[in-house]
Amino acid sequence: MNNTHLFILAFLFVLMQPKDVFSQTYARNGMVVSSSEIASQVGIDILKKGGNAIDASIATAFALAVTHPSAGNIGGGGFLVFMDSAGVTTTIDFREKAPLNATTDMFLNDAGDVSTGTNLYGNKSTINHIGAKSIGVPGTVAGLYLAHQKFGSLPWADLVQPSIEIAKNGFPLNWGLYRAAIFFDDNSPVLFLRNYFRKDNGEITQFGEIWKQPALANTLKEIRDHGRDGFYKGRIAKEIIKFMEEHGGIITMVDLEQYIAVERKPIKGTYKDYEIYSMPPPSSGGVALIEMMNVMELANLDTIEFNSTAYVHLVAEAMRRAFADRAEYLGDSDFNPDMPLDKLTSKSFAKERFNHIDMTKASVSDSSKFGQLYDGTNTTHFSVMDKAGNAVSLTYTLEHSYGSGMGSSQLGFIFNNEMGDFNPQPNMTNNSGQIGTSANLLQPGKRMLSSMTPTIVAKDGKPYLVIGSPGGRTIINTVFQTVLNVLAYDMYIDQAIEAMKIHHQWLPDIIYYEKMLLSPDTRKALEAMGHTLVDRDELGELMGIQVDRENNVLIGASDSSNPNGAAIGY
Ligand code: DON
Repeated sequence: MNNTHLFILAFLFVLMQPKDVFSQTYARNGMVVSSSEIASQVGIDILKKGGNAIDASIATAFALAVTHPSAGNIGGGGFLVFMDSAGVTTTIDFREKAPLNATTDMFLNDAGDVSTGTNLYGNKSTINHIGAKSIGVPGTVAGLYLAHQKFGSLPWADLVQPSIEIAKNGFPLNWGLYRAAIFFDDNSPVLFLRNYFRKDNGEITQFGEIWKQPALANTLKEIRDHGRDGFYKGRIAKEIIKFMEEHGGIITMVDLEQYIAVERKPIKGTYKDYEIYSMPPPSSGGVALIEMMNVMELANLDTIEFNSTAYVHLVAEAMRRAFADRAEYLGDSDFNPDMPLDKLTSKSFAKERFNHIDMTKASVSDSSKFGQLYDGTNTTHFSVMDKAGNAVSLTYTLEHSYGSGMGSSQLGFIFNNEMGDFNPQPNMTNNSGQIGTSANLLQPGKRMLSSMTPTIVAKDGKPYLVIGSPGGRTIINTVFQTVLNVLAYDMYIDQAIEAMKIHHQWLPDIIYYEKMLLSPDTRKALEAMGHTLVDRDELGELMGIQVDRENNVLIGASDSSNPNGAAIGY
């Protein structure tokens, strides 16, 4: 056999590899998987310097605020789930809060309805997502600082410094950012975004050109030098308040001074031998995820083929029920001390829910009871593991892509429009998807209900799967299906991430499915059962790590739906 034969054999071997293996990164010592290759590298560099998973997460989060500004942020909020190498798990809640001057009816017009306006993208949107009043008190800096105080090991300044350098020296504008730059140049109703991607000479930064953010670099320096106070007090805080006063926002200095991030007990559930840890309220993600996993545990999935009619029906029915319960019960736990979290995540409750699923026909979502609201389009998740086996699952957001689009040119960062996650209109729940239940009504100082679902699954008491996604309410369902794919259908993390997904959120009563997922026959069969089906381009942008303990290796996978994402290990 000569070299040509060997080459042909090698080529055939490559062709014969299973097609459903996408992109796996293997590493022994640490892994960071995020929506930005630059930010993943920042995290890995911190791990290599001896930082732990929390240190790397803080550095990655600041880096994403520079390189992935549609969702990476210091002007928004989010959640961190942390499991140490011994399996001890906790969470940090740094969700935004309603300003103290907010009122329950602040987004209602004289007729008592929520008015609509035009959002950053030229689309009609409810007014609670538009303008300076849509900005919640940001939580990200407080959350990262609290994580550092409790669990960090390297000096805080070392974790902020890499992002200062990227903001100051710039990085090549990628295709996604370039598309945003030209879109906002032509269309943005918000001046800040029209100027956001410009160079010193006033021209828009072109694809591949270096984009610098000097104002953001200066803001990050304050945070580097003064920690939490660098954002919530002093020069930055004064500039935030000046901005609010000039643009009709209602955040005051008292809101900034009083903002605190909170350590909370995770929501915990099990699926067979696995333990699942996720975010408690003010996220609805953990509760809904556990409820759905409990329902699926009751089904004999060995007899239900992946993506079959029975599979889609069962998964959609589990989603329908979890989302109805979400709407009925969940909100900020500081304002709703009596939420039945134990009940919702119990095996007996799942049994009630499971027993009411008819495997021959679709249930009907009844809007006279509960519903849901607008679906946002951007958030970002990353997963980190270090050499010692500590794991971090972190999702944070500005709510919509580029949030409110508003910001001060002195500060260089974008404010969220998270106030849109509150239920804006008491008692108004309808089939088109508005929710008016009380747990998540707007109240001063309250955190708005979230769907972000940063999750860690443990096996034998140690991190096994670290996972999360952006996608508004679809987050809960894409994380759910990815976890199920690994735990019940034995997929590797990359297959589980890339596998096509569905989404049902109770109201509207529709199964959304990724275009390639369902064969015409399966669609027909589901329609015959009473389901309505609508296709979507894609669901989820999952960033995950799986631990192969037998071989002592970490497997990282970044969803191919984001070409800028990267799993980097060492
Ligand atoms: O917290 C939430 O559930 C939403 N504000 C997240 C928004 C979102 O994920 C939009 N993303 N793709």
